[in-house]
Amino acid sequence: MSSVPGGKPLPVRKPLPYRRVTVLGAAGGIGQPLSMLLKLNPLVSKLSLYDIAGTPGVATDLSHINTRTEVHGFAGDDQLKDALKDADLVIIPAGVPRKPGMTRDELFDINAGIVKKLVQAIAKHCPFALINMISNPVNSTVPIAAEVLKVEGTYDHTRLFGVTTLDVVRARTFYAKAKNLPIEDVDVPVVGGHAGKTILPLFSQATPQVPLSKEEVEELTRKTQDGGTEVVQAKAGKGSATLSMAYAAALFAESCLKAMNGEPNIIGCAYVGSSVTDYPFFASKVELGKHGMVKALELGPISKYEQTCLDEMKDELMGSIDKGVAYVHNTE
Ligand code: NAI
Repeated sequence: MSSVPGGKPLPVRKPLPYRRVTVLGAAGGIGQPLSMLLKLNPLVSKLSLYDIAGTPGVATDLSHINTRTEVHGFAGDDQLKDALKDADLVIIPAGVPRKPGMTRDELFDINAGIVKKLVQAIAKHCPFALINMISNPVNSTVPIAAEVLKVEGTYDHTRLFGVTTLDVVRARTFYAKAKNLPIEDVDVPVVGGHAGKTILPLFSQATPQVPLSKEEVEELTRKTQDGGTEVVQAKAGKGSATLSMAYAAALFAESCLKAMNGEPNIIGCAYVGSSVTDYPFFASKVELGKHGMVKALELGPISKYEQTCLDEMKDELMGSIDKGVAYVHNTE
């Protein structure tokens, strides 16, 4: 205990562990607000911001905020190695966003190449870092990353996460609004994948539990699945969800960091390599620990409607997974 003269002893605060977080695609629509939220998070000691261009400006701007997080900017191929050095957590929002009328799969060709290259660099320069994949189509970019890491000999499914937190954030918001619930008390697990009908909010497991009619469940499910499209259309050609996505990514990153620091019972939803279902990659609740995922949690009891949705996503989810795996081997 230390003390101020004449005052009460001040409690000695245990220093937080030194944690380095790297954002790849940090100058973009998601990258910038996400980097700001990370700069405000006391769990982040060092923040490395990487993009093909523009990151020194973003980093200098953020570095003037008086929080403990040290910020560094890196730009271009030559500096990727330094951006990744000693990272504990790498968050990837690099790539192009959806335009109106474009499906997530149409982004595939551009984003697949970007993700492949970035993950190869992660395997080389920070092979033990946790990866939070934001770049779409997540249903394919996570299998791409897994395959790249396998080729490089550093794959561990407990360290690779597709970020689906925005689906959870949306489901919570829409459920709370529909039933007039205090939003901070609401939780809704979202399973499956991260595109269209592969996004499956489990309102049967929502908390607090309030009765929903069949029509309400269907409407809330559709609204959650179409959340991304709603934003793309509202932005009318100027990109996809960035601010809500930055919030969601910051939330999941914080869960990873808390778990890394030894905080118990950290649970979140993410799209991971998993044996919870027959799909090799599947979004479900996951328990996080010091070195990444401790386990993917079983689905638990689901409603008949949810079971039907789960069955109906099969072709789309498997198709996206196969496409990602094939991409890596066809472009070796
Ligand atoms: P944006 O175009 O505003 O930013 C992307 C950034 O990536 C740009 O600054 C660009 O320079 C950078 N970039 C491109 N190639 C790169 C490379 N090789 N290395 C490093 N940086 C590179 O796009 P926005 O809106 O930030 O979206 C980023 C990605 O996130 C898109 O793929 C989008 O579809 C996805 N997304 C994912 C969501 C999710 O829930 N997982 C939700 C919303 C968007």
